[in-house]
Amino acid sequence: MKQLLASIAAVVIVVSLVVIGFTYTQVHQQQASLMDDLQRRSTLLADSFKESIRPAYVVKATSTLQSLLNKFAGRERLLGLAVFDNKGELFAVSAGLPNELVEDPQIPEKSMDSDSAVGAFSPQMPGKVYILASPLHQDEKVIGSVVVYQRADYIDASISDTWKNNLLRLLVQSLLFAIAVVLILRWIIYAPIVKMAEAIRQARSGQAGGDSAMQKSHGFFKPIVAEITKMSQSLVLARTAASEEARMRLEKIDSPWTAERLKEFFKAYFKERKIFVVSNREPYIHSKIKNEITWEVPAAGLVTALEPIMEACGGMWLAHGSGSADKITSDAEGKIQVPPEEPQYTLKRIWLNEKEIQGHYVGFSNEALWPLCHMAHTRPIFRKEDWLQYRKVNGKFAQALLAEIKNVQRPVILIQDYHFALLPEMIKNSRPDAEVGMFWHIPWPNAEVFSVCPWRKEILEGMLGADVLGFHTQQYCNNFLETVGKEIESLTDLEKFAITHKGHTTYIKPFPISVPFSNTEAEDVPHKSELLEKLDLKPKFLGVGVDRLDYTKGIMERFKGLEFFFEMYPAYKEQFTFVQIAPPSREGVEKYRQFNAEVTREAERINNKYENNGWKPIVLLKENHTHEEIFPLYRAANICLVTPLHDGMNLVAKEFVSARNDEAGVLVLSQFTGAARDLKDAIIINPYSAEETAEAIYKAITMPAAEQHRRMKKMREAVKNYNIYRWAAEFLRAIINLG
Ligand code: G6P
Repeated sequence: MKQLLASIAAVVIVVSLVVIGFTYTQVHQQQASLMDDLQRRSTLLADSFKESIRPAYVVKATSTLQSLLNKFAGRERLLGLAVFDNKGELFAVSAGLPNELVEDPQIPEKSMDSDSAVGAFSPQMPGKVYILASPLHQDEKVIGSVVVYQRADYIDASISDTWKNNLLRLLVQSLLFAIAVVLILRWIIYAPIVKMAEAIRQARSGQAGGDSAMQKSHGFFKPIVAEITKMSQSLVLARTAASEEARMRLEKIDSPWTAERLKEFFKAYFKERKIFVVSNREPYIHSKIKNEITWEVPAAGLVTALEPIMEACGGMWLAHGSGSADKITSDAEGKIQVPPEEPQYTLKRIWLNEKEIQGHYVGFSNEALWPLCHMAHTRPIFRKEDWLQYRKVNGKFAQALLAEIKNVQRPVILIQDYHFALLPEMIKNSRPDAEVGMFWHIPWPNAEVFSVCPWRKEILEGMLGADVLGFHTQQYCNNFLETVGKEIESLTDLEKFAITHKGHTTYIKPFPISVPFSNTEAEDVPHKSELLEKLDLKPKFLGVGVDRLDYTKGIMERFKGLEFFFEMYPAYKEQFTFVQIAPPSREGVEKYRQFNAEVTREAERINNKYENNGWKPIVLLKENHTHEEIFPLYRAANICLVTPLHDGMNLVAKEFVSARNDEAGVLVLSQFTGAARDLKDAIIINPYSAEETAEAIYKAITMPAAEQHRRMKKMREAVKNYNIYRWAAEFLRAIINLG
């Protein structure tokens, strides 16, 4: 819009300059011609007047002369007449001429001196009165001067009329021009382009009607349309070939899983059945910043993993609408099509009030269950009011989901994480035909640790409403089985890893979650990180860490490890820089706010200790960074430190590996992550030991390229073989096997 207005303004300015130029010339000519006319008329008048008065003047017949003057003076535009004698004295003057005009003999004197007619505007009334003096002769001798006073103000009026008319015309023309431009752009250019873009989008996303919609585009877009139609047809062909290939590979478990293959898999086994995902965190958050609506993908492993699945399979994702602009961007039912740039599925936002958020999310989920499941030595806080809100919010989500699946036969429901432990049972009680899978994205502690939870029985029974219950590792499955055995009456089948409770069987299985991974991933990502350029960092060795500011992530211990490293290997001062990306998280929780401040202080302390020559060991970036911004950083790094104190899986480790298609770089990984089971070629450490961390950093930095390649290659194989599409397929396969 801005560009359009600028273009219109530019054209209007140019046209205005041209019109002003033309008007100026026109006015100039008009003025010259009017002056000419005035002079001519004045001269004729003076000449004819001279003839008439000469006899009376010669004999000094004053009264005759006076009546002649008055008779002549009555004419149109003639202000008056006067006769001066040859000494420059006023001899006679017509009635009504202003005194200041006739008191000045300069012009008649000039005419007598030069013996020729002299004309000029009155210096007393410039532009308004024209004075022409013509010498009066007798026997070729100048005997006086006849002066004609003409009104000339009509010249200025006529000139200003010309300006006014032309500028008015310019204004009207500019207005009409702007309207015409807007209409032309709107109807002839913009509307067909919008139609074409929609048609291209339809063709690209494989929706029917894309091509025919494009064919309807008209006019000068025809040649482009023809080319794009060909391109879209090739796309359709390529897509068909890919899906055919995917169908053929469907059952060959060792061939790579792709979004296409997952889609085919879903179509083949679930036919027209719909998939519903429920999580607390939504995949797209809309915010209003300075009157502008923006959106972002939150920093959450769960979103990283599930988003590609939803994009592949479509369906509906129900989540808490937490953004400041979520309501205005959704419809009356809280629904919005996402991804915003290329909608593939429906996000249904559930609205929670402050009390519900405080009790369900801040309190029970993050102050009770999170520390309870993570062994990071933070005491869980159990409050009765939090538990009641937790139950209420689970109920609220159950109502919303039940309304959505009211007319859906055998819906497939995938419930995510510790925010919804009670939801599987609530759904299953109302809709026994629904197939419910639940995935627990965080660790499951051993039975003894879990036994401190006052509502352990309700939680376990809620989870056992699911048909399939997934954890990242076999260890967590074992812990869960042991916990159930200890807490509630049930039948455990250790062979099938199934628990039967109140006549319903739940299968407990490990599904190590992953990232999309593809060989071509990040191929077009520049090797050089823009972020480093922006920060003006040119370290010889670069380390990177990417974590939410969470006390389970081991950031403080990592910094201690870095401090120890510089103590032990001072030669790396000014050589090695560690960039820690750490977006603040769960700021409603006191513990997290404290942790945020502690991390900042610790980074500052270590930086103050070592910084030199503009170099500092730790660059702490607390903004949320997009995947696109982080990928080049992964690619530029020599080492990536993933050192949580306890983590269900940790997808940063897998993202780093997936970004390194140059098969270089070293991963230092905590032994207390689920990822340590899958990425055995990382340098595995105990993050509680600063010494071990420091040694691992040294080993990583000095690792020969050949060894880096060997390790990275193996880790890439592992992630490639079990990527997120395989994770989803395995999970869905477990649900299929139920029927
Ligand atoms: C972990 C949890 C997710 C959660 C994410 C971010 O990965 O397993 O369920 O979404 O952290 O935490 P947040 O509280 O911001 O959703």
